[in-house]
Amino acid sequence: MALKLHTIVASTRPGRIGPAVGQRVNDVAARNGAFDATLIDLADFNLPVFDEPDHPMKQAYQHEHTKRWAASVAAADAFVFVTPEYNFTLPPSLSNALAYLSKEWNYKPAGFVSYGGVSGGLRAAQMARLLVTTMKMMPVPEGVALPNVFGQLDEAGKFTPNDLNAAGAKAMLDETAKWASALKPLRQPAPLALAS
Ligand SMILES: Cc1cc2nc3c(=O)[nH]c(=O)nc-3n(C[C@H](O)[C@H](O)[C@H](O)COP(=O)(O)O)c2cc1C
Repeated sequence: MALKLHTIVASTRPGRIGPAVGQRVNDVAARNGAFDATLIDLADFNLPVFDEPDHPMKQAYQHEHTKRWAASVAAADAFVFVTPEYNFTLPPSLSNALAYLSKEWNYKPAGFVSYGGVSGGLRAAQMARLLVTTMKMMPVPEGVALPNVFGQLDEAGKFTPNDLNAAGAKAMLDETAKWASALKPLRQPAPLALAS
């Protein structure tokens, strides 16, 4: 059965370029062969600053926005985060969305496509890699960084990858598929005898 890959557009601000990059990443993921690929836009979930009373580990969600977000994340076997760099780190929209949940992220690999100015969002991706380990995700070392991404957008705002981007995306997606398959046993519910 194909692995369910969610490509998550992490920026939510009006006028963002995240969806243009995310759309292309999702198209490439869909053609990779290993995945049932879905594009997820964080903006669609309209998550406020974390507002659940309990630690997400309890999964005692009070709010509809959290339940919706949890159902989306739980349905995936693997993620690719398409993230800009804000102030040399990941955007608050992504850090907030990650903090909302816990078990839904567990034992799933996380690939990164980052973008920005001269750094290509590398600092954001590295900070995010550190953060996702606390949710028991496996941050895939292979990643795609898009420096001066604005130069790869046409007048209509469509993003076109270059050969280096395409090779990087293939390496990242292939590794993400390997990790998603290898971690599958850990994503199974515990046997009844061990569950109590
Ligand atoms: C609050 C803010 C902080 C930013 N900080 C950085 C930065 O540290 N490094 C960088 O390369 N670009 C930075 N930028 C420029 C972004 O790379 C650029 O605005 C990009 O379009 C953001 O992605 P988005 O359009 O999907 O939101 C920043 C932009 C914003 C809005």
